[in-house]
Amino acid sequence: MAPKKPLCLPSLLLPILTLLLPQAGTRSFVVDRDNGRFLLDGVPFRYVSGSLHYFRVPRVLWADRLFKMRMSGLNAVQFYVPWNYHEPEPGVYNFNGSRDLIAFLNEATIANLLVILRPGPYICAEWEMGGLPAWLLRKRTIHLRTSDPDFLAAVDSWFKVLLPKIYPWLYHNGGNIISIQVENEYGSYRACDFNYMQHLAGLFRALLGDKILLFTTDGPEGLRCGSLQGLFTTVDFGPADNMTRIFTLLRKYEPNGPLVNSEYYTGWLDYWGQNHSTRSIPTVTKGLENMLKLGASVNMYMFHGGTNFGYWNGADEKGRFIPITTSYDYDAPISEAGDPTPKLFALRNVISKFQEIPLGPLPPPSPKMMLGPLTLHLDGDLLAFLDFLCPQGPIHSILPLTFEAVKQDHGFMLYRTYLTYTISEPTQFWVPNNGVHDRAYVMVDGVFQGVLERNMKYKLFLMGKLGAKLDVLLENMGRLSFGSNSSDYKGLLEPPILGQTILTHWLMFPLKVDKLVKWWFPFQLLKRSHPETPSGPAFYSATFPISGSGGDTFLFLPGWTKGQVWINGFNLGRYWTKRGPQQTLYVPRPLLFPSGALNKITLLELENVPPQLQVQFLDRPILNCTLHKTYIYSLSAGVQGTSEQWALKGR
Ligand SMILES: *[C@@H]1O[C@H](CO)[C@@H](O)[C@H](O)[C@H]1NC(C)=O
Ligand SMILES: *[C@@H]1O[C@H](CO)[C@@H](O)[C@H](O)[C@H]1NC(C)=O
Ligand SMILES: *[C@@H]1O[C@H](CO)[C@@H](O)[C@H](O)[C@H]1NC(C)=O
Ligand SMILES: *[C@@H]1O[C@H](CO)[C@@H](O)[C@H](O)[C@H]1NC(C)=O
Ligand SMILES: *[C@@H]1O[C@H](CO)[C@@H](O)[C@H](O)[C@H]1NC(C)=O
Repeated sequence: MAPKKPLCLPSLLLPILTLLLPQAGTRSFVVDRDNGRFLLDGVPFRYVSGSLHYFRVPRVLWADRLFKMRMSGLNAVQFYVPWNYHEPEPGVYNFNGSRDLIAFLNEATIANLLVILRPGPYICAEWEMGGLPAWLLRKRTIHLRTSDPDFLAAVDSWFKVLLPKIYPWLYHNGGNIISIQVENEYGSYRACDFNYMQHLAGLFRALLGDKILLFTTDGPEGLRCGSLQGLFTTVDFGPADNMTRIFTLLRKYEPNGPLVNSEYYTGWLDYWGQNHSTRSIPTVTKGLENMLKLGASVNMYMFHGGTNFGYWNGADEKGRFIPITTSYDYDAPISEAGDPTPKLFALRNVISKFQEIPLGPLPPPSPKMMLGPLTLHLDGDLLAFLDFLCPQGPIHSILPLTFEAVKQDHGFMLYRTYLTYTISEPTQFWVPNNGVHDRAYVMVDGVFQGVLERNMKYKLFLMGKLGAKLDVLLENMGRLSFGSNSSDYKGLLEPPILGQTILTHWLMFPLKVDKLVKWWFPFQLLKRSHPETPSGPAFYSATFPISGSGGDTFLFLPGWTKGQVWINGFNLGRYWTKRGPQQTLYVPRPLLFPSGALNKITLLELENVPPQLQVQFLDRPILNCTLHKTYIYSLSAGVQGTSEQWALKGR
């Protein structure tokens, strides 16, 4: 630690700073333990807050969402800071554009919302690796979320960058941050490392001073390991849980302070292949009303869920690996597209019984747009673009290396080897110890053979001549964000076996798919290397104009299987029509060029395509179809918007 320097500001600057922070010194947010409540500037205060993640909403829409939260009667917004979103490489920081955390704090101020900040370092949030940077795993022996010196060193250097940025925004310094959460549901993590939590608390105090309220959040079972002497203890639970029992339990850890539910679940997340989650309006409103009657402070998780754009979704391990969908709608009061829902009005009604609601109506739903069907054309097989996807050339290794070992954090990597003898009978190809993380698309001499999937599909049968090229495209479907006992490495974790032979001598191509889509397209139609096989990883695209001022829309991919999709180079996220429940991807209006200009849609489809190569843009989302069937959305001629119907077409 460097010795503390006295603060030397040019004398001219001081009056300006004082003007900017007129109330600094008189502002306070504290726990009044004698009376079991918070005091804001000395006045009894309770927060009714909602979660909104700036990293799940395009920056141009932050103000809109925050305004709607304020107009719902909330007086605070709670949000996480995902470390991996801001420190993509050790010591490289990104706080610009959609990552401009300070601009978001400013928008919250404009919306008249206080802030409850949750900087982690671990955040869960159903976010890739729970917000921890994948580069931490480059050190094989690291123990995440413990007092392992390697982990602490990385945490310390990150917080020495982040927390000083936050400092001027603390409430008593003139900003809007009233409290800061240390770690996240740490009691649910098996390590239960008391020294780690103590280290974090000390670090926060050293960098933020002793005035700011620091707190922890845990589920009821996690309070034992997650709470810490000296930090304010809060709990999280949903409408179906027994409030009386849980708040009684909380009293063991926080005998006198105000009762706080830091995550009251308004809905729930979705996993690929499972049913869409919802929480009914009456149960959500009743639970909120009961807590407010008790005088508790509540944060609703989520108030607006947003979207896991790009590769940012997390995953869970519940007997098997299950990744989280691209939509993070969460059945929240404000929908994924930013619209007020009946749940919002019902909750607002409850809040209005306890505190004043800002005057004025909520903005109406944003205009929606329908478009298509649109026919895409084949740009070419992924393999045909290898020189552009991996311009630096492959990495050679006897045994396959993980994504982390070659510094490929997200997306895709191609593993290639050549057969050293002829296999004339179908022969088993597999990876021991469930070593495909997470999905493998297998090609022999460019011809698609099928898929292997973690915990789901373990073997294929292959044939090939001596010298045949075996390509295995590995997809990272998002690192575990919760419930993991071990670090979630990606790629081929074990060398594959063909028949009795362990395959060696691999070429590994870390793929820069987003760069290709963004900068190097469009290419003129590349010839399909194997026109007789209309399947396997390939790029498809189309251009299209929108008419008038357009609107938000929902991309529907009937008959497509699984892949990644971009609009004008922006990575909208993963689609997995065949598995569901999510069938459409939210396309925010600001991603589209105005009337006249051409927009471009690009798909990387990993498996099979529908015969017509068509997609559609709908005026409403479909998030609830866990069916291995294809739906075709058909419009009765002419009468747009009134007589749509679903025609079910089996596969
Ligand atoms: C934002 O910051 C990153 C990392 O510092 C940099 O690579 C990128 O070019 C910046 N983008 C803009 C729009 O300034
Ligand atoms: C909730 O918990 C309290 C205290 O443990 C118990 O008395 C009550 O019966 C429970 N309510 C329900 C509906 O289970
Ligand atoms: C999912 O939904 C289907 C159709 O509503 C239902 O039959 C099935 O039991 C549900 N599965 C689970 C695990 O809830
Ligand atoms: C994680 O570890 C705990 C305790 O060691 C064990 O009970 C549990 O089964 C493990 N879970 C998984 C998914 O391995
Ligand atoms: C999906 O949700 C829509 C709109 O709420 C509803 O009309 C439809 O019946 C649901 N479909 C399934 C398969 O649950």
